Amino acid sequence: MDRLRHAHSIEDLRELARRRLPRGVFDFFDGGAEDEVTLRANRGGFERLRLRPRTLVDVQQPDPSTSILGAPAALPIVIAPTGAIGAGWPQADLAIARVAARAGIPYTLSTTATSSIEDIAREAGGRLWFQLYVLRDKAFTSGLIRRAEGAGYEGLVVTLDLAAGGKRERDLRNRFTVPLRPHWRTLADFARHPGWCWRMLRHGQPVFANLAGFAGAVDPRASIAAKVGQSLDASFGWDDLRALRDAWRGKLLVKGVVRGDDASRLAAMGVDAIWVSNHGGRQLDGAIASIDALPDVASAVRGRVPVLLDSGVRRGVDVVKALALGAQAVAIGRATLYGAAAHGEAGADRAIQILGDELRRAMQLCGTPRIQDIDARLLQGSAHSQEKETDA
Ligand SMILES: Cc1cc2nc3c(=O)[nH]c(=O)nc-3n(C[C@H](O)[C@H](O)[C@H](O)COP(=O)(O)O)c2cc1C
Repeated sequence: MDRLRHAHSIEDLRELARRRLPRGVFDFFDGGAEDEVTLRANRGGFERLRLRPRTLVDVQQPDPSTSILGAPAALPIVIAPTGAIGAGWPQADLAIARVAARAGIPYTLSTTATSSIEDIAREAGGRLWFQLYVLRDKAFTSGLIRRAEGAGYEGLVVTLDLAAGGKRERDLRNRFTVPLRPHWRTLADFARHPGWCWRMLRHGQPVFANLAGFAGAVDPRASIAAKVGQSLDASFGWDDLRALRDAWRGKLLVKGVVRGDDASRLAAMGVDAIWVSNHGGRQLDGAIASIDALPDVASAVRGRVPVLLDSGVRRGVDVVKALALGAQAVAIGRATLYGAAAHGEAGADRAIQILGDELRRAMQLCGTPRIQDIDARLLQGSAHSQEKETDA
């Protein structure tokens, strides 16, 4: 716990997780596809953006509360779906969901989560969205949607960037799979992490809680991305999405969009939000950084529907930059995951605390005490920053 209090950044939580997890597990959380070009570009994109803070603004009480998809949220932050994370800490999904409910922000449960749709609804509460991988097994996919509806989920997040599993070479080299299948080379690694071993032995192997009974033709030795990829409907297209739009009465979000032309067509089709993402650099290596894709998407959508963004958010100031470029909120995958993997619920809590504090501080230092004060004029090089400005 003391270590958690002394974690001052998401990078500190990452380092704690790195020390506490066997390498295979940490690499599964931390890694990206192939050469990890996109993984690095996601950070590079944020780091390249420069801010132009306002002065002489009363910023005594920064207020990061906002509205996400028409409902109040305490922060412009959403929890992104992350599958198989029970391999890091038992019931990590539930831990993060509880933290999100307490923090007043939406939580997205993955299709490949290690807690079930129903357990999360019963034990966490808060604003819940369910992330859907459209499986080739149509009956199973419809069953998942019905379960999310029955459990009262507000949103369905359809992930569109996993037509095939990304080639995550760290997982291949580490022979990482869920369920965990210890290989003689990984056993020594497990043994060096007795705390993690003890937790896994005590709570049992993590399982894909929403996929019980799923008879997808998967090779048990395949990496997780490959397993999911083998079961997905790679033919899923516009007509299928339209049918899904008609079938789901709640909010429909589409995740994994990085092009303005796609975004414009999706907005016209009646989705409720567009979620700019490259899956945290885990799918197409060489894909554009999410933050670099955002301006094109935001301008194509022209305010018709909210735009969310994930991939690479590690600092409160990243949230400011994404909002300045037109996002309504950001989503975070690894930030809370590093925390949960390091110390369960308390670790995820610490991650939100760090990001919330950094965001409030960044809002003060930018002279934008309310979320609606954040706009493109904050950014160096934006069209607005070159105009002659009058008083805000
Ligand atoms: C361990 C892990 C598992 C993930 N599993 C899923 C998933 O099941 N479904 C999905 O749509 N995205 C998944 N993602 C992608 C996240 O939803 C999100 O797009 C990404 O983590 C954002 O980048 P960030 O980690 O830099 O915040 C996963 C990401 C990680 C790190």
